[in-house]
Amino acid sequence: MRIIRTKNYEDMSRKAAAIIAAQVIHKPDCVLGLATGGTPVGTYKNLVAWYNAGDLDFAEVKTVNLDEYRNLPREHQESYWSFMHRNLFDHVNIPADKINLPNGNNQDAEAECAAYDAVIASLGGVDLQLLGIGHDGHIGFNEPSDAFDLGTHCVDLTDETIEANKRFFNSKDEVPRQAYTMGTGTIMNARKVLMIVSGKDKAEIVKKAFFGPVTPQVPASILQMHPNFVLVADEDALSLV
Ligand code: F6R
Repeated sequence: MRIIRTKNYEDMSRKAAAIIAAQVIHKPDCVLGLATGGTPVGTYKNLVAWYNAGDLDFAEVKTVNLDEYRNLPREHQESYWSFMHRNLFDHVNIPADKINLPNGNNQDAEAECAAYDAVIASLGGVDLQLLGIGHDGHIGFNEPSDAFDLGTHCVDLTDETIEANKRFFNSKDEVPRQAYTMGTGTIMNARKVLMIVSGKDKAEIVKKAFFGPVTPQVPASILQMHPNFVLVADEDALSLV
């Protein structure tokens, strides 16, 4: 595990974007695993700026997103499909047919999860997986539980996650109750994992996840065992370690 300490959110975003940019430059046809949420917005902004400046080319890049809400229309502005288009895909040249997210509107959860795992396998796995972390230690939507889930699966969101995500909706009632998410096994299989964390409110969970025991009760803790894991976190997020 490598920890890169940054001054603040902007510095974290630039450094994380630089690591992703290096991946794309080294391997133009790489598979990027992408995340949504508040934390990666600045990282995507930098990638878009460098693409506009002619420093980055995504023409051969393929993407797989970590997760998607279940039963939220794809066009809903808070679907992860919409988030990714708004923040990245609409602004760079990743070919539309190389973009992959779980289909949250496939009612057959088992078939959808198996199909998503098959897509990831057919791409040869993930070269670089970008992650944020939830206050309860979740990665993707892998919530605290008694065992690590391996492949893509359907989850019931915890009340804490619904509470955290309600800021994106008009009310808590509108937050979907389920999601499809890559499993911890899929995340651990990525050749490189890059986690970004910012803010004092994440300091407690950063300490627990990366300076405490590895346990499925803190899903992110498993990353301590990943051979190529980089944590890019700002001073506030690292204030307790
Ligand atoms: C997003 C995802 C989540 C978020 C996490 C942190 O695709 O899978 O695990 O990374 O909830 O979210 P923010 O960045 O909003 O604090």
